[in-house]
Amino acid sequence: MPLLETFDPAGLNPGAFSARTPTAPYPTGGGAARKFGVLPLPALDWNEDVARETAHLYERIKNVVPSVEWPFFAPHVKAINALKQQRGAVILAHNYQTPEIYHCVADFVGDSLQLAREAAKTKAGIIVQCGVHFMAETSKILNPDKVVLIPDSRAGCSLASSITGDDVRLLRERFPGVPVVTYVNTSAEVKAESDICCTSSNAVQVVESLGADKVIFLPDEYLARYVAAQTKVKIIAWKGHCEVHERFTADELRRYRDSDPSIQIIAHPECPPDVIAEADFTGSTAHMIDWVRNRHPRRVVMVTECSMADNVQAELPDVEFVRPCNLCPHMKRITLPKILDSLLLMKEEVVVDPFIADKARRAVERMIHLKS
Ligand code: 13P
Ligand code: SF4
Repeated sequence: MPLLETFDPAGLNPGAFSARTPTAPYPTGGGAARKFGVLPLPALDWNEDVARETAHLYERIKNVVPSVEWPFFAPHVKAINALKQQRGAVILAHNYQTPEIYHCVADFVGDSLQLAREAAKTKAGIIVQCGVHFMAETSKILNPDKVVLIPDSRAGCSLASSITGDDVRLLRERFPGVPVVTYVNTSAEVKAESDICCTSSNAVQVVESLGADKVIFLPDEYLARYVAAQTKVKIIAWKGHCEVHERFTADELRRYRDSDPSIQIIAHPECPPDVIAEADFTGSTAHMIDWVRNRHPRRVVMVTECSMADNVQAELPDVEFVRPCNLCPHMKRITLPKILDSLLLMKEEVVVDPFIADKARRAVERMIHLKS
């Protein structure tokens, strides 16, 4: 029986908690456009030269992007790759980005932990984060002297907006001495109030690394339940949910299995517990991709954001992906034209208060430096 206590802010202390939940658009600013200058819009025509110069990139996504669509993407892809060089920028893209971003303009792709590790290592002076705001903020926290751009600062996250720094301070008062682990899907302010961060790929390891018999685990209730099922540490959870993963149901997965008993079902730990119970494997987005690469199933349902199946399908054309298509509206705000604008106009620059960033950095670096 997992040891878990779910802390329901509304029931216990109405009004005191989540009074100032941060919502997108997040503050942007900085002086990157002044420092680096803005550049004119390059030609974005589709012609034989563009077709020839981008043919090797189309090859990577030809299984998932029809050839009639490539003329709409290719001019942007070519312009973005040229501008990246010119600006000395690196593009970090999450596994939920669409195939033309993931396979054709990104320098590094991965789950939240891999992207944070790349952000910590990069020598580039400019980071363009193709993902949601908390990911860009994590890159900025790790690189206070670099420019971090997000192509659309409205790309939020329902988990990140479920909790504030004030909430964490109140929780600490209520559970004195209990360490706080926060999922990276949180604002810098929440990270700053935490002892250590975690991602879905290292949550159990992080919880156990503290050597405590009880931890406060924020803000994803379902990830907290998943962790509680695998450790003896008692977990105090928050009631935050991912608006994409909470929509999956165990019933729909049972219907897939009834229609094909040999089908493989793999799920992200942000899913509700009864959904995870139906899965053959549960793991972070990177762990799910590795599972498919290594097992090479005939048919698989990836119970997570829909674009990830396209990205893996591009690489593994003989695996059949059955898609319950739930899209993350925040991830989908990032598009090629907005990435191009980011690089041309040096926008939107992510800013984090230096005092908060210093405190948050301790929690993020403590996670990154844990031995895997
Ligand atoms: P991963 O760290 O598994 O990529 O998860 C990030 C996320 O936002 C999932 O919804
Ligand atoms: Fe946040 Fe869910 Fe979107 Fe991931 S999929 S960014 S957890 S809303």
